[in-house]
Amino acid sequence: MFSRYKKSSDAAAPARPPVAAPIASNDPAPRTSATEARPGIQRRMAPVQPPKPSAEAIAQDKEKKRKDRLMELKVALHKELLENLNLAALESASEASLKSEIASITAEALENMSVALNKDDRVTLNQELYDEVMGLGPLEPLLKDDTVNDILVNGPKRIFIERAGKLVLTDITFKDERHLLRIIDKIVSAVGRRVDESNPYVDARLADGSRFNAMVPPVAVDGSLVSIRKFKKEKLAVGDLVKFGAFTEEMAAYLQAAVSCRLNVIVSGGTGSGKTTTLNALSSFIDNTERVLTIEDTAELQLQQIHVGRMESRPANVEGKGAVTQRDCLRNALRMRPDRIIVGETRGEEVIDMLQAMNTGHDGSMTTIHANSARDAVSRLENMIAMAGIEMPLKAVRSQIASAVNLIVQASRLQDGSRRMTSITEVTGMEGEVISMQEIFRYERLGLAPDGKIIGRFNASGVRSHYSERFRQWGYDLPSSIYEPLI
Ligand SMILES: Nc1ncnc2c1ncn2[C@@H]1O[C@H](COP(=O)(O)OP(=O)(O)OP(=O)(O)O)[C@@H](O)[C@H]1O
Ligand SMILES: [Mg+2]
Repeated sequence: MFSRYKKSSDAAAPARPPVAAPIASNDPAPRTSATEARPGIQRRMAPVQPPKPSAEAIAQDKEKKRKDRLMELKVALHKELLENLNLAALESASEASLKSEIASITAEALENMSVALNKDDRVTLNQELYDEVMGLGPLEPLLKDDTVNDILVNGPKRIFIERAGKLVLTDITFKDERHLLRIIDKIVSAVGRRVDESNPYVDARLADGSRFNAMVPPVAVDGSLVSIRKFKKEKLAVGDLVKFGAFTEEMAAYLQAAVSCRLNVIVSGGTGSGKTTTLNALSSFIDNTERVLTIEDTAELQLQQIHVGRMESRPANVEGKGAVTQRDCLRNALRMRPDRIIVGETRGEEVIDMLQAMNTGHDGSMTTIHANSARDAVSRLENMIAMAGIEMPLKAVRSQIASAVNLIVQASRLQDGSRRMTSITEVTGMEGEVISMQEIFRYERLGLAPDGKIIGRFNASGVRSHYSERFRQWGYDLPSSIYEPLI
C-alpha cells in the first residue's frame, strides 16, 4: 500500500500486528483440578443452579466484552500505526487525509488478524485511533464536547465530567495506568513541562487555553489524577448570566454602576462556583479607554477592552529556577501605569500588593478569592496577610482591608448544579475593631422542587447602597426601587 504518511521502510516488511486477545468464550468454566481429582465429592453434592442472570445483566456483560475487545484491538492497532505511520509527515497532513490513511491501515491490519467488525465499531475504532495518534486519546471526545465544563480523571478507569453543574461518571476509560501516563506526558511535553516520580505534579495551560493539572503516582495513590477546566471560547456575558438566572437585571444594573464608578471588587466563591466567569463578566463594565492589566496563574480572562495587558505567572523550572510569581507580576504591573489591575485569584503573598494597589490610586481593581461568604472572604484576606509574614496589629490589618475593598460578590454552586450570585455585600468601614458590611442583594432559598431543583429568589435587603451618592455623581442614578425587598 502506498502512502505519503507511511514510513518508506515499512513497505518492504510490513509488521504483522499482534493478535488481539480473543473474546471471552461463552463456554462453561473448565472443571477445576480439585473436582477432577475427587469426582465422588461432586457426585454426592446436590446440583446447585446458579441464579439466572437478568436480560439487562447479559446485555451489560455483552457490551463490556465488546468494549474490552475494541480496547484490545485499539491497542494493537495503535502500535501498528505508530510503527507504520511516518510521524514527521503527519504535521502537514490534513485531518481528512490522515483519517482515510488510518482507515486503510486499520482495514488491512484487521484483515490480517481475520477480525470482522460492524460499521459502527469500525467508525468508532478509527476515530479513537485518530484521537490516540493526533490527540489526547480517550480525553479527546470530552475536550471536543462543548457541554462538558470540567474533566476529572481518578486513575485510568474513572473519568468524571461536569455538565450543567453536575458531576457524572462516564463510561470512558484508559486501558491502564501506562496509557493514562502516556497521554499526560503528551500533554505536558507539548507545553515544555515534565512530570514523573521526582516531579509528580504539574499545572499547565493547554494549547486551546484549558487549565490542566496532573498528579502522578506514587503521590497520587490510586493512579494519576487529572483535572481539566475546559476553556470556553464564548465567555458568558452579563446578559447570559442574567438569562441563566445567576443574578437579576437589577443586580446587573447595580454591578454596572459599581464597576464603572471604580469600586474595588472581590468575587468570592468556592471551587468551580463561577468566580472567574463572574469576574470576566464584570470586566465588561470597564470603560474602553482604560488601561487594564490582568495577572493570572493560568490565563483564563478574556477582556473585551482594547487596552489590555495580560500577564501569566510561571512556576520554577526543573532546576528550581525562573519562577515568576503573581506577586512579581503585580509589583511590575504597578510600574506599568495601569488604570486598573485584575488579579485572577488572590491566594498568597500577593494579597499585600493587591490591597496596596486598591488603596493607592488603582481603584476599580478586582480579584477573586476562595471563600464561602463575604465575612469568610475578609477572614481569608486577614489570614493571607498573616501568612505573608506581615507583622501588623489585627486592627491595622482590618482597616487596611476595609479601606481597600468596597464590594464582595459571592458566587456559589448550589446542590442542584446551578450557579448563582448568592450575595452582594458592601464593605462600609470599621466599627471599633470590626469591619462593617451591609448586604444589598441576596439569594433566598425557599424550597426544593420534586425534580431536585432548588426553588429560590433574589431579593434586595432593603438597605440603600453606601455608594449611592457616588453612583449619582458618576451618572448612575439607580432607582431606589431596586433596593426595595419583595414581600
Ligand atoms: N452562571 C453560570 N451558569 C452556567 N455555567 C456557569 C455559570 N458560571 C460559571 N459557569 C461555568 O462553570 C465552570 C466553572 O466556572 P469558573 O471557571 O468561572 O469557576 P471558578 O470559581 O473560577 O473555578 P476555580 O475555583 O476552579 O477557579 C465554567 O465552565 C463556566 O463556564
Ligand atoms: Mg477560577
